Formats: sequence, C-alpha cells, structure tokens
Amino acid sequence: MTNVHVSLKNVTKQFQREGSGGVVHALGPLDLELRSGEFFAVVGPSGCGKSSLLEVIAGLSPPTQGEVLFEGKSIGGRVPDGIGVVFQEDASFPWLTVADNIVLGLRKIPISNEERQARVDRAIAMMGLKEFTNAYPAQLSGGMRQRVCIARTLVMAPRLILLDEPFGALDQQTRLLMGEEVLKLWRQTGATIFLITHALDEAAMLADRIGVMSARPGRLMDVIETGWPRERDSRVVESPAFGEITARLWKSLRAESIKAIGKADAAS
Ligand SMILES: Nc1ncnc2c1ncn2[C@@H]1O[C@H](COP(=O)(O)OP(=O)(O)O)[C@@H](O)[C@H]1O
Ligand SMILES: [Mg+2]
Repeated sequence: MTNVHVSLKNVTKQFQREGSGGVVHALGPLDLELRSGEFFAVVGPSGCGKSSLLEVIAGLSPPTQGEVLFEGKSIGGRVPDGIGVVFQEDASFPWLTVADNIVLGLRKIPISNEERQARVDRAIAMMGLKEFTNAYPAQLSGGMRQRVCIARTLVMAPRLILLDEPFGALDQQTRLLMGEEVLKLWRQTGATIFLITHALDEAAMLADRIGVMSARPGRLMDVIETGWPRERDSRVVESPAFGEITARLWKSLRAESIKAIGKADAAS
C-alpha cells in the first residue's frame, strides 16, 4: 500500500522575461507522484527547470498551470507546515553559533523550552555536530556548514524534505559521505525525500526512484526504480546494478545535455 504524499498534475511554470515582455517556459507540463516515505531524486541538464520544480513543490512559487497537492491539500502561496527545504548555497548565519542557527525556526512555533531543546539536541546528534555546538560557521568546513543547514530543517520535523543540490559545492568524497548522512536521516525520520542533484552517481546511490528531466522546458522523460533495500549505504556503488542504473541515466540524459549546452551557447 503506497500513499501519495505529493501529487503534481499538468504543472507548468513560465517566467516573465524582464524588459522584453516575452516568457521563458521553464517547466512542464509535468505529472509526478511522490510516495510517502520514498527517496526520490531528480536529475536533468542545467537550466532544465529543476529548481523551478522544487520551488513549485515547496510552495515558494506558484505553478503557472496545473495543481500541486501536499498530503491531499492544494499548496498556497507559502511553504506549508511539514515541508522543509535545504538549498545549495550555505545559508547559515555567520554571526550565530551552530546551536543558535539550528534553533532559529523553532522560535516561531509554540513549543515548550524542553521540547525545543530536545529537538535541537536530536538534530545536532543526528548530523554529527555535537563538538561544534558553540562554534561559528566560519570555523567549520563546507560539509559541516551544510549539515548545520540540514539540522536547521530537521528540527522543524518535516514530513517532506526538499533538497536542491545540497552538496553541489562539496568535493566528491565529502559528497558521498553527506549522502550517507541523508540516507540515515531518511531512515530515522521516515520523511519523504526529494533530492535534486546534477550528479548521476549520487542519484543512483541514494534514491528509490530517479526522475530524469528533459532539457528546458523540463518534463519527466523517465522514472527509474533502483530497487535498493532501505538499509543501504555508499557500498551499493560496487554492485552491477549501480553500473546499469548510471548507464541508463546517462543514456536518457546525453542528448538532453547536448541540447541544453546548445541553448546556452545560443543565448550567450
Ligand atoms: N525568477 C526567474 N525569472 C526568469 N527566468 C527564470 C527565473 N528562474 C528561473 N528562470 C529560468 O528558468 C529556467 C529553469 O531554471 P531553473 O529551474 O533554475 O533550472 P535548473 O535548476 O534545472 O538549473 C532557466 O532558463 C532560468 O533562466
Ligand atoms: Mg537549480
């Protein structure tokens, strides 16, 4: 029995081009259902509308057409309770300690001091930040700062976590290890995870299903089931299935990436 957690029906997104009055057709039409508790990754050529898709799901930007439902309800013009977003750029506040960065969002919701502290402690433990509780972001590595941002989302107890290329700025080894952290928190929280990544190996290693997007306007060209067990880690990269999945991803994406590069050249 799988529950639908998020559903997109016939969603498109267009942007008004500044000045000229034309429109950029960024996304869709696109249909997508995320199942409760699954790990869904999205790959696609750069500029194909991945971030636009995430913003539409988050309620940060309304779709031009179509409908987005989260837990059966239409998403209005704000991020609903239950959805947490982690962005690519390091969004920690440099003047706050790790603990103060993490507690920030909790100050806005009515919970007891004990509950607040318990949530912060749990998130700090889950992201391995215990020794850095009183450090400032500048004293941490990029990977650590990104853990702070994830912890800050976790304390809000999201049931759906949206991550937009959260490890994009990190080196390959750190990325793989951060991927394992995300797998762990996915298992521990039971949340649904929606991860955008440009790294095919990351998608192939982490996700239950991988959506492959076309060049702009981004549509879903393929959805690949990886078949990994819930208990998994980066060692799946050693299995033959991993090679098959990445090969299929690249086969779907190669032509689209060439199109995307062509468009970028034409635009410059
Ligand atoms: N606020 C905006 N105004 C105008 N155009 C935008 C805006 N946001 C994104 N776009 C355009 O929409 C397309 C998709 O962008 P985006 O969703 O950021 O792609 P991706 O995340 O896949 O790289 C791009 O051509 C981009 O220039
Ligand atoms: Mg993007």
